[in-house]
This record gives sequence, structure tokens and C-alpha cells, in this order.
Amino acid sequence: MLTTNHKPLVLPIANGQFANNEVVLTTPVVLAPMAGITNSAFRTLCREQGAGLFVSEMVTARALIERHPETMRLITPGKGETPRSVQLYAVDPRVTGMAVKMLMEENLADHIDLNFGCPVPKVTRRGGGSALPYKQTLFSQIVSAAVDAAKPFGVPVTVKMRIGIDPQNETYLTAAKAAADAGVAWVALHGRFASQMYEGKADWSAISRLVEHLAPTGVPVLGNGDIWSGEDGVRMMNETGCAGVVVGRGCLGRPWLFGDLVAAFNGSESRITPTLFEVRDIIYRHGELLVEFFESEGRAMRDLRKHMAWYLKGFRVPRELRSKFGMVSSLGELEYLLAQLEDQPYPVEVGESPRGRTSHGRPVHLPEGWLDDPFDIPEITIDDSVSGG
Ligand SMILES: Cc1cc2nc3c(=O)[nH]c(=O)nc-3n(C[C@H](O)[C@H](O)[C@H](O)COP(=O)(O)O)c2cc1C
Repeated sequence: MLTTNHKPLVLPIANGQFANNEVVLTTPVVLAPMAGITNSAFRTLCREQGAGLFVSEMVTARALIERHPETMRLITPGKGETPRSVQLYAVDPRVTGMAVKMLMEENLADHIDLNFGCPVPKVTRRGGGSALPYKQTLFSQIVSAAVDAAKPFGVPVTVKMRIGIDPQNETYLTAAKAAADAGVAWVALHGRFASQMYEGKADWSAISRLVEHLAPTGVPVLGNGDIWSGEDGVRMMNETGCAGVVVGRGCLGRPWLFGDLVAAFNGSESRITPTLFEVRDIIYRHGELLVEFFESEGRAMRDLRKHMAWYLKGFRVPRELRSKFGMVSSLGELEYLLAQLEDQPYPVEVGESPRGRTSHGRPVHLPEGWLDDPFDIPEITIDDSVSGG
């Protein structure tokens, strides 16, 4: 029996759509926003397998106010999806305010998360993502702009960040406190520096420190980094005292991790270990949901291809068949290929091993003179191809 004494995670949403003006997450689990992954199809798939809050792929505030068709598609909820949780990448307080106002006035979201964790060079080189919390004044202005625009509509804003740029430039304690003061509903911390990308193990002790640091404000902290099993989720809560967990790569090719997390949080040791035939049904369901989302079988299958290696990880599948899955181009072909799989038990050890991005650390690219003054207010431009982090 696992020891779990967690409390439900409450997201206050007073926009008139939820009883008692709140959403209660009995299992305090959030699907991490992942660009290129957490579209409404993947969110629906995860929701069908478990419980939690399922956050959209990141969209840039600027693309939103410019109504880029792809961005508008990304914020369209899945069928019956509630609450609608949208992650924004924002670098400019004015544009942030406009984007949130648009989401609110057009009733397009019930929760907004702000991304301050992206470590990719093309983002940090311009001062965005995980570089931004270093600029304390600008950071506070962006968070306040979002909170102030969402507040009249009763919609909560949360932030997601890393520990800092690198060990010499930690930002999380100051930035999280500023976000709490600005009125966010929670702060999620990925226990790595930007300089680590996805290397090594996430430092859960930083999550504990943030829990203590924010305790006087009453703002909850969510922990993120390296939850690969239901047990990991419970362990992170027990070890850090965080109010909930954010799960990213662990559910790639394993949407049933959300079912495992529900079981683990209920003290049960039983885990979902689907046979390959059961996984086969989930893959097909994913394919169908993607076709609905993209309204194009070709695009849907191109998206599904990247998930195939994750779904099949650890199973015995002939190399030729594996590579055919990597080129699948229609639902009919998918069905034909899936029919060639031979049933077998779930390879638990491989299944629960790290997957997805594991990129090595490297020095963080920053704009010239970025570290000179944490209080100046730089103007940051967005690379149109910004995604993820
Ligand atoms: C493919 C991919 C895309 C990501 N995109 C985003 C994103 O758009 N916004 C964000 O805040 N974090 C993004 N992340 C980071 C995750 O949300 C999460 O913080 C990170 O993967 C660590 O959690 P994990 O160890 O559970 O994977 C992305 C991660 C991956 C692997």
C-alpha cells in the first residue's frame, strides 16, 4: 500500500461554468503542455485513460491576437473538453494583456498557463522562455497583465518555470514570489536549469524549497520533472510537499499513465500493463482522434508517426514493420499494419524508462548583456517558429 495523504488540487474558476466556482482535481495531476504533442486529440486520449487537468500545446500570444489559423486550431477544445486549459508563450506585457482579453471576451479558455520554461536556443537567444524570469520587472509586468485581463472573467492564470538559467543564475524563488504577488493560482516548477535542457535527473529538492518559500503566500506549488510511473507521482508529493504534479514525457506512448496515477494516488498498487493488442486499440483510437483534430488523414498520420516508437518501445516488433509505422499515411494503412502485430505482455521495465527528449545540457544562449541588469525592460521579439520547451 502506498502512503498517500494528498489533498485534492483546487483550481478556482469563477466564470460561471463550474459548480462552487472551482474545479476540484481529486487526483492532483496535470498533463504538461508539450508543443507538437498535447493537441486536443492527445489530451482526449489521456483524459479517457485517467483524470487530471490537460493543458494545450503552447501558443504564442502574438499569433493569437493575429489569429493565425493554426493557432486558432490549437486552442480549439476537444469534444466535451472541460476545463479548457491554454498555455501562452508571452514576452510582452501589452500583447499578453490583449491575448488574454481576446481569450476571455470570446470565451475560449477556462485556465491560462504562462510558459517561462522553454530552454531552446532560438527562444532564449531573444530573451524569451526560461531567460525571461531573470528580468524581474518585465516578468512581473507580463504575469500581472495576464492576471489582470483574466480576473474580471473569473479565469485563473498559472505559471510554469525552470529553476533558472544555470546554477549561477537561479531565478525561481524570486520569480515565483513575484508571480504569487501578482495573483497566480499556482506555480509549476520543472526541477532543471535551462542549461540542463533534459539532462540528468530533475532536482526535486528545488521543488521542496519553493514549497517552503511560497508557503506564506498560500499559493500552491506543482512539481514537474521525471515522473515515469504512478509511484513517482506519489513520491514527488510525499518528498516535496507539492500540491500536485505535472507529467510530461512519461505519458508519451503511455496515455494510461494517467490511470496509473489515479490508482497510485488512491493507495492502490495495481498498474495498467496493456498487452500489445490493447496498445494496438489505443494507437488506433489516437489515430482517429488525430483525424478529427486535423480534419486531414495525411496530417493526422504524419503526427501519429512520431508517437509510434514510443508506443512500441520494449515490444518485440520486426524492424521492417516498425519502419512502416514510421511512414504510415492513412487510417486504412494503420489498421493493416496494426493487424500484423503479435500479441505479447507489456514490457514493464522498458515501458517505465525515460523517453522523449533527453537532450544534453549546454550553455544557454542569451541576448548580449542580458545578465547586466535584472530590472531593465528589454523588448523581445518572437521567432515565428517558436515551439515548446
Ligand atoms: C516535446 C516536448 C515539448 C514541450 N513543450 C513545452 C511547451 O510548449 N511548454 C512548456 O511549458 N513546456 C514544454 N515542455 C516541457 C514539459 O512541459 C515538461 O516541463 C518537461 O518535459 C519536464 O517534465 P517531464 O520530466 O515529466 O517530461 C515540452 C517538453 C517536451 C518533451
